Amino acid sequence: MSGKNLTTAMLILCLSQSVCVVAGITSKENESSKLVIYVNQGKDRIAPEIYGHFAEHLGRCVYEGFWVGEDSDIPNVRGIRKDVVEALKKIQVPVLRWPGGCFADEYHWKEGIGPRDRRGRMINTHWGRVIDDNSFGTHEFLDLCEMLGCEAYIAGNVGSGTVEEMQDWVEYMTSDSDSDMATLRRKNGREKPWRVRYFGVGNENWGCGGNMSAEYYADLYRRFQTYVRNYSGNRIVKVACGPGGTDLRWTEAVMEKAARHMNAITLHYYVRGSGNWTNKGSATEFDEKEWFALMKNTLGVDDIIARNIGIMDRFDRRKRIDLFVDEWGTWWDVEPGTNPGFLYQQNTLRDALSAGIFLNVFNKYCHRVKMANIAQTNNVLQAMILTRGKEMIVTPTYHVFEMFKVHQGATMLPSDLVCHQYQFQNQQIPALVTSASKDAAGMVHISICNLNPNKDSRLECLLEDYSPKNVTGRILTAEKMTDHNTFENPNVVRPVSFGSAKVDGNLMTATIPAKSVVVLAIK
Ligand code: AHR
Repeated sequence: MSGKNLTTAMLILCLSQSVCVVAGITSKENESSKLVIYVNQGKDRIAPEIYGHFAEHLGRCVYEGFWVGEDSDIPNVRGIRKDVVEALKKIQVPVLRWPGGCFADEYHWKEGIGPRDRRGRMINTHWGRVIDDNSFGTHEFLDLCEMLGCEAYIAGNVGSGTVEEMQDWVEYMTSDSDSDMATLRRKNGREKPWRVRYFGVGNENWGCGGNMSAEYYADLYRRFQTYVRNYSGNRIVKVACGPGGTDLRWTEAVMEKAARHMNAITLHYYVRGSGNWTNKGSATEFDEKEWFALMKNTLGVDDIIARNIGIMDRFDRRKRIDLFVDEWGTWWDVEPGTNPGFLYQQNTLRDALSAGIFLNVFNKYCHRVKMANIAQTNNVLQAMILTRGKEMIVTPTYHVFEMFKVHQGATMLPSDLVCHQYQFQNQQIPALVTSASKDAAGMVHISICNLNPNKDSRLECLLEDYSPKNVTGRILTAEKMTDHNTFENPNVVRPVSFGSAKVDGNLMTATIPAKSVVVLAIK
């Protein structure tokens, strides 16, 4: 059958089944899952910042994860460890958010500039009550961003800070004038101002950032953001604090009062299995019930994004304001024997699948989701990197970011999926989650997650108006759901080449193995 005939046959089949998963129609067990990609109908760019990261002064994320100090015997450049920067460059970090998180609303930036032996010593009250000697501050962070070649996203202090402090910070970093702040920056060793693209006015101000009501925060936001100024050609994207999880009332109240004054609003979305905040479950010891629960909970982000966008649209008819999911990821009980305040957790194939779902969903909403930051970069929550003294390993989630980087800056391609369901006990969810994009060179990339840990899924993919010659691919999977990388065995979960995909005319076929993330490149 020619590609065109297949197109028609598949569409008829799909149409006879009402085309999409949303309608609850699924591929029968003995049929293939079917994906139609409209290769010439893409219009929205996937902002690279959707693949963004977040580093807080929490546990060993910044200290040890990034910062070891100039005198350390761990190889470093100006105190920042080399191995971590090199690993992160491979995943093309587009933006890094800092210094928190909850830490942001108790951070006083002036304590973190100037000679290190004269910097302030503060108690990190949120995270283990340890002393932070401020040896990693504004200069070190912006130096790190320059090393990574990424945009800086600073989270300002509304909860315990002042308007003057926030205004001074922006001026200190970005002004090329001879004002007192710019002069102080020069005195501290940085002649030219930095480029600071994103500035968050507070973090989780409904909780750790001051326990405010939405209305009170919205008023404070309006006041604080007034003084977040543009200096010397630097253009700041002003970011308002949005809801955590499902609190749509917060979105509504902040949008109603302050929409006119913001460029973006945030959403935080953490997921776990079937546990609760007291017993979140082990990161590495779980059964299929916990696996299924995480997949299901992760899929919930789709609905939450859609509802937030719905509310935003009511107050922002021109769709000028972006949604930044600036904290997301899995959250498990800390690794046994570690400081509970440090949120150190391992990271298995299950976390990788969850990350793959999140990123595919962000791609889908790329017309409005313009940034997302996984929590967090090193040694905290769903980390990319784990360190132990001099040693460093990368996690399964790191590999997902590396595989998905092909979507950064590409055009999102609309698609329809009719797929098998993954059934567990009396519940079911779609077995496959996919997204596709076309890059500047015309290469089509499809990222596919098979959430079912027991069954492969045969996929037929129709590429509308496209006649590719070749398909290559990579796959991330492992023998067991709980497999993860350790310092002793760092390559248990890593991507390998995937040879089962074939193209014939405009039809691509592949068998997507159980519990895997596959990224295909088609040209
Ligand atoms: O990422 C850990 C914490 O989670 C952040 O500090 C806070 O913003 C969120 O509650």
